[in-house]
Amino acid sequence: MSASANSIVILTGAGISAESGIDTFRSAGGLWEQHRVEDVATPEGFARDPHLVLGFYDMRRAALAGVEPNPAHVALARLEREFAGELLLVTQNVDDLHERGGAARVLHMHGELKSALCSACGMRSRWEAPLIDRPPCPVCQARHLRPDVVWFGEMPYRMETIYAALETCDLFVSIGTSGAVYPAAGFVAEARANGARTLELNLEPSEGSRLFHESRLGPASALVPAWVEEVLSRETSG
Ligand code: APR
Repeated sequence: MSASANSIVILTGAGISAESGIDTFRSAGGLWEQHRVEDVATPEGFARDPHLVLGFYDMRRAALAGVEPNPAHVALARLEREFAGELLLVTQNVDDLHERGGAARVLHMHGELKSALCSACGMRSRWEAPLIDRPPCPVCQARHLRPDVVWFGEMPYRMETIYAALETCDLFVSIGTSGAVYPAAGFVAEARANGARTLELNLEPSEGSRLFHESRLGPASALVPAWVEEVLSRETSG
């Protein structure tokens, strides 16, 4: 990654939060070994057993109080503050660690644990408390709040914004994701097709590793601060 970048798109996945103590999905013992995806991460599963699904996300939301952002989250917030070019930080994660690490503009394409979506009026509300007791929607008062998390089969948020950025970026960086789930797994090919350089920072090779110009293997808490320092020092050296 020798040349400097003017416009960067970053995609993060569960791996960036792993060292903060949040389970990933597909690593050994991960979330999808504890719960079947079809039971807790699909509209059909929610219709079948809302209590199970609301409890699953209440548990994950409550767990956020017990974890802290790690140096990778903090480094991306520094990049956001100090990088002179354009930066879009897209995360597949529903945790709030990017924000608590200092990032101000985070695009949560799969939604957020700290947001609730009303199935009656369609409004999204910032949310901290459990949903298991079906509290009223702050907007329409109906008792049809669900986790504001994008389930399998649902459309991720702000895809137009993401694709527009992939069209014009000159560097795409993927951090802590297995490349197992579309549309996020397709972003690297989109970026390459538009002439961007592509870099992967991950603990192990991902399903899309061969699509990256460069892959660096290791823990995000070490790789991300080093890469951010590289980008910012190249910027100051001109
Ligand atoms: N540092 C860097 N990468 C790590 C670390 C770490 N400390 N620990 C794990 N990883 C990597 C793993 O090697 C793996 O490639 O993070 C990736 C985690 O992959 P997944 O568990 O599949 O999580 P993710 O890629 O975010 O899943 C994508 O799938 O289930 C859906 O909606 C869910 O957003 C999620 C999507």
